[in-house]
Amino acid sequence: MIQSIRGTKDLLPGEIEKWHFLEEAVRTVTQRYGYKEIRTPILERTEVFSRSIGENTDIVNKEMYTFLDKGGESVTMRPEKTAALVRSVIQNNLTHDVASLRLWYFGPFFRYERPQKGRLRQFHQFGAECISSANAESDAEIILLANHLIKFLGIDDYELQLNSLGNENSRANYRVELINYLNNHKDELSEESRKRLALNPLRILDSKDANDRLIIEKAPAIIDFLDEESTTHFGTVKELLDSAEVTYKIEPRLVRGLDYYSHTVFEFRSSALGAQDAFGGGGRYDGLFKQLGGKPTPAVGFAMGVERLILILEAINAVKDIHHECDVYVICTNDKLYKHILTIAEELRSKSYRVATDLQRRSFKAQMREAGKLSAKYCLILGDDEIEKNTVTVKNMSTGEQAEIKRELLHTIRFR
Ligand code: HAM
Repeated sequence: MIQSIRGTKDLLPGEIEKWHFLEEAVRTVTQRYGYKEIRTPILERTEVFSRSIGENTDIVNKEMYTFLDKGGESVTMRPEKTAALVRSVIQNNLTHDVASLRLWYFGPFFRYERPQKGRLRQFHQFGAECISSANAESDAEIILLANHLIKFLGIDDYELQLNSLGNENSRANYRVELINYLNNHKDELSEESRKRLALNPLRILDSKDANDRLIIEKAPAIIDFLDEESTTHFGTVKELLDSAEVTYKIEPRLVRGLDYYSHTVFEFRSSALGAQDAFGGGGRYDGLFKQLGGKPTPAVGFAMGVERLILILEAINAVKDIHHECDVYVICTNDKLYKHILTIAEELRSKSYRVATDLQRRSFKAQMREAGKLSAKYCLILGDDEIEKNTVTVKNMSTGEQAEIKRELLHTIRFR
């Protein structure tokens, strides 16, 4: 037997209904905020991600599905959407005639991580990006949209963590202080973090190593190094969230795992998830358009992990079992009559009824059993007798009553 690849998952009937529920919620909520859907390819040129997410991040260093295609070009199966979306916005010049470009997406992503609960190698995200405004209003709109969706799904127990990485100037000042501090603790740091000290010290704040965490807890916080512009921006974001009555917690060491962020960063966490407790995250990325060859364009966005959200929905029992109901099961008493039940089934389906028939040429009894299993509300029975008289027998499955009616009157009956 050939097994699926580690870290990938089949979505089977029974589970897919939860995905439909979630997809429907995403469509409804993004519409409420005026966001339009965008779909871009799974495969992108590798530089789309290496230039934007950062050469010294886990994603680019260790986790990307990158290979040379048959033409010798290095391509990557997208590990996230933001960089690919920015590539597409620049290429298609989508910002040219709108004040604010509002986009959302839903789809598969790929990261070669160690699989565990809530962590897959092929996972799914949906997200939204608000492009062209440098103002705190757009940070607030993105956070409100994400928050609205979480509430819409019926999730109440979660934490929104918020921080600011400030502008380039603030980060440069902070970097100096952070390197000073970490140099004093160099010998206690993990090997990985020691390597990062020279290359990308901010990433050390993301380390999961227990010993590193103790050092990080006492490290200077970026929030104390924000310059005036950055402080004002962050202050307005908080003010707008406060007036919209959004609850958040300032998390001074939240830096996120991607290098393109500036100013606001945030994450949504849930205790229903275990170790991988972040079910969404995002922030502002004002430098990304320029990095990818476009004209400087401010932007902010977020993405949520679909598998993690579904785990939360299951934990709180938010999605009840959704049955695909059957209105009518059409039965024939011998195989030769199948063409007649096919015509009847098609007629009812075109009137929007949910209709099933047997394909295994089974006995009348077996067909009745199947109708019961599918909880069909009615059975239509066709035998030689009915064909001769141009009638059909209608059986109400809940009362057991049955009646023979003229074939041309079938359209007058309501089956639902
Ligand atoms: P991210 O934090 O890397 O951000 O991913 C967002 C969410 O995707 C995570 O919070 C998590 O729920 C889910 N996720 C990530 N990796 C996995 C995995 N291996 N298995 C299952 N779920 C996973 C981004 O990707 C940014 N592009 C978000 C963003 C949008 N920033 C600005 N705009």
